Amino acid sequence: MLTAAVALLTLVPMVCVQSQQIGTNVPETHPPLTVQSCTNTGGCQSQQQSIVLDANWRWLHNNGGFTNCYTGNTWNTTLCPNPTACAQNCALDGADYAGTYGITTSGDTLSLNFVTQSAQKNVGSRVSLLADESHYQVFKLKNKELAFDVDVSQLPCGVNGALYFSQMPADGGLSQFPNNKAGAKFGTGYCDAQCPHDLKFINGQANVIGWTPSTSDPNSGAGQAGSCCAEMDIWEANSNAAAFTPHPCLASTQTRCTSPLQCGDGDNRGNGLCDKDGCDFNSFRMGDQSFLGPGKIVDTKQKFTVVTQFLTSDNTTTGKLKEIRRLYVQDGKVIQNSKTNIPGMATFDSVTDDFCSAQKTAFGDTNSFATHGGLSAMSSSFDKGMVLVMSIWDDHEANMLWLDSAFPTSEPASAPGVARGACATDSGVPANVESQSPGANVTFSNIKFGDIGSTFMR
Ligand SMILES: *[C@@H]1O[C@H](CO)[C@@H](O)[C@H](O)[C@H]1NC(C)=O
Ligand SMILES: *[C@@H]1O[C@H](CO)[C@@H](O)[C@H](O)[C@H]1NC(C)=O
Ligand SMILES: *[C@@H]1O[C@H](CO)[C@@H](O)[C@H](O)[C@H]1NC(C)=O
Repeated sequence: MLTAAVALLTLVPMVCVQSQQIGTNVPETHPPLTVQSCTNTGGCQSQQQSIVLDANWRWLHNNGGFTNCYTGNTWNTTLCPNPTACAQNCALDGADYAGTYGITTSGDTLSLNFVTQSAQKNVGSRVSLLADESHYQVFKLKNKELAFDVDVSQLPCGVNGALYFSQMPADGGLSQFPNNKAGAKFGTGYCDAQCPHDLKFINGQANVIGWTPSTSDPNSGAGQAGSCCAEMDIWEANSNAAAFTPHPCLASTQTRCTSPLQCGDGDNRGNGLCDKDGCDFNSFRMGDQSFLGPGKIVDTKQKFTVVTQFLTSDNTTTGKLKEIRRLYVQDGKVIQNSKTNIPGMATFDSVTDDFCSAQKTAFGDTNSFATHGGLSAMSSSFDKGMVLVMSIWDDHEANMLWLDSAFPTSEPASAPGVARGACATDSGVPANVESQSPGANVTFSNIKFGDIGSTFMR
């Protein structure tokens, strides 16, 4: 995915503790979420787990007090004169999930609201699934599948309701980085294949060096450092388009990048630690414009189930990842993924290394997926395990046109690979979607994972 827009937070103060030290002005109570683990022989077992709000959205204030360390999109330079002092002086506080961020859970259902107005305006959010109070659940999905229900009917052009895996450290970096006292309990340790520069803390250090406030996002900025790791986008979507996309990295674990080359900034896009482009399967882009959308074969006006299967070379959990397959279930019917229909390209209905190279050739794109190790590199990340992340966001860099419209806008929509969804090329401007569709929301429910064939139609 592209870099998520981050909203924060000048909270009205309310009492305290402690780099990401720990703040206690607002109690941190993780919203519960039931998920199911399934086997072909034993069926599905419910597990009561919980979610945690990413650290980047949280109120950050002086240790033991109420003075903001970060306000709008700027740092308090007294509290944050350098990365280490800032991490020692500042505390991440608990979150009012529903009231401040529009995040609610009930049973197996999570809803994320787009714009939430309380004492301040919050835009979007990002949460991760916890295994316990201080660790993310680490998924190992080779020769397994993941299913969930999604309602994208309230997601317009320009808003992305995403469910994906990032190779984050299970404890949020707590054990590795002494200045990170908050850990996964407070949603630390985020990384993805865009090596995001908008994170306030990376590896126990504040990202204050070179921090530049965003010109369009009053809550976000970019520091010199980025946080890179492999990412498996299961679902990046709104009511007009959807994509699933593996993004391998040359870095074998979460890695703090500090140079434009490592981070893959600008012209270095294809040469950074991570494959920013990834290898996307978007049915509309791959030539079936009738497949997914309002009233289409997969009808985005109604809830449906998304199943993703991670097949290995020998059908065991130790074999190499060789194919990522997609199925949908709606109205009790299994819907096979669309088939590609691109002139000059063989037909595919799943992501394999062959699909990726054929797609890149057909679209005239550099195959940075292959140069970052392709599915074999993804396979190594799957061996280490990935953390489940869900988010809702708008896009201050590219108006989400890469997902739901024609992109790049410098090329005709008829050029191979340019058309990705039915949205207009002038859609998705954050200021417009935030004012016109503040009530946009996404609901993820019924998350199940387990043996191939065990999670759906049972
Ligand atoms: C920055 O922090 C210092 C030290 O706590 C404080 O005195 C000052 O008021 C803060 N500045 C702002 C703008 O909040
Ligand atoms: C793996 O399973 C698939 C589908 O059931 C089958 O077609 C394939 O032959 C199997 N491969 C191996 C190596 O057993
Ligand atoms: C999502 O938006 C719809 C339409 O505005 C609204 O009816 C529904 O209550 C919203 N859901 C949540 C969880 O906010």
